[in-house]
Order: sequence, then structure tokens, then C-alpha cells
Amino acid sequence: MRKNIVAGNWKMNNDLSQTRSLINDLKEQRITSNAEVMIAPTAVNLYQAVEATKPSKIEVIAQNMHFADSGAYTGEVSASMLKSVGVGTVILGHSERRAYFNETDELLAKKVDAALANNIRIIFCFGEELADRKSGNEENIVEGQIKNALFHLDASAFKNVVLAYEPVWAIGTGETASPEQAQDMHEFIRKTLSDKYGANVADSVSILYGGSVKPNNANEIFSKPDVDGGLIGGASLKAEDFFAIVNAF
Ligand code: 13P
Repeated sequence: MRKNIVAGNWKMNNDLSQTRSLINDLKEQRITSNAEVMIAPTAVNLYQAVEATKPSKIEVIAQNMHFADSGAYTGEVSASMLKSVGVGTVILGHSERRAYFNETDELLAKKVDAALANNIRIIFCFGEELADRKSGNEENIVEGQIKNALFHLDASAFKNVVLAYEPVWAIGTGETASPEQAQDMHEFIRKTLSDKYGANVADSVSILYGGSVKPNNANEIFSKPDVDGGLIGGASLKAEDFFAIVNAF
């Protein structure tokens, strides 16, 4: 059975004291759902965040990593460095990384390999831009992003892969995909996986939706059969809002 997951992507928000304070607030919230709960603070605070979340069910994950294990890559962080501070999951391919840091499918395929080789679970993000949706090209775009970065993997690798559909036009805009749009795309993604790897793999992979998920719309989005959770930006920066979304399951 695939898992329900709600992950908060803090992006470039929260210094060290804000990180500690938000984690303290999160630990005071009651979890009434069966969802796995994750937060992704900025890299510089990962170690302190891992320490601060103990003991709790909140997993600290990374927003990004480099594909090389070490070497002359100024400013970068490797998979083994993440592991060394207690991080076992990384977000890869976020649309902001693609748009502002020129991350291509080819580069992401290398990052995927590096994470999995280090036994780090990935939350792999993808999604179409507004122009793609307007021209009815959203499925082609999404299919290409998934195939180019993931379809060299063996079926067994997918036990460490979570997918996150984040339509770019819904990120930080207050405009969500409708629950039906999310469901349609998630169903298409699962079919794409099934065509390549078979129904067992496709049914076992969690597919998250991201893009302006808020306490007032989480319930309806999460009620769709192929939506297994959410990747939450803005609303993950407030403990009550984030847990209202977590508990929407
Ligand atoms: P918002 O929830 O702020 O739209 O951000 C979504 C996102 O990018 C999560 O990775």
C-alpha cells in the first residue's frame, strides 16, 4: 500500500532561531492522520532541525543536493553529507530549481542516481507551465519530465521514489489546480508508470500534489483516489495551517 505523505517545503525561509521556533510549534500540534509528516528547512539548518525534531514523527528532509559525492563544486551539498546529518530524503527537480538554477532533466537524472545510490529517498517534482496547460500540452510535458529523469531506473528503485506533481501556475499564486485537474493528472502519471513498470509498481508509488494547498482546500484535493499527499509551500510556514493540512487525511 502506498503511503500518505504531507511535506512542508520551507524554501529559503527561516533562519536558525525561526527554524527552532517553528519546529517547537509543530511538535505541539496533534497528529490525527496517518500521513507521514516531513519538513524541508534550508540546508544550513538541517542538522539543527534534525536534532530539534527529536522525539517526534516529523522527518527532516532536504530541498536539493548535488550529484557528485565530493569535490570542487563550490556551494553545493552532497548526498553523503545529507546522510551524515541524519537526512534520508531529498526533494529533487522543484520548478524553482529548474527555472532559476537551470536544472535540466539530464542533470536531474544524475541527482536521482546519486540520491538512490546513497539510499536517500527522493521526492521528484515536475509540472507544466501555464502556457503548456493553455495549449493542452500538460500531459506531454509531464510525461517527458518523468521519463527523462526516472525511466532509466529499475523497477526496484521505485520503493525509494515519491512523485510530486506541481503545476508551475499553481505555485505561490493562490490558484490551485481543481481537485479534478489534480486527479486527472495523477491518474495519467500512474498510468505512465504502469505502462513502463507494471501496475504493482505504479500502485505502490505515492504521488503528491503541490501548488497553493491550504487548510481550506486540502480536504477536497486529498479526497481524490490518486492524490496521496501534498507538497506544501507557504502554508507550511505556520504550524497550525500545516497541521490542518496534515490532518486533512
Ligand atoms: P505553495 O504551497 O506556496 O504554492 O508552494 C508549493 C510548492 O512549491 C511546494 O514545493
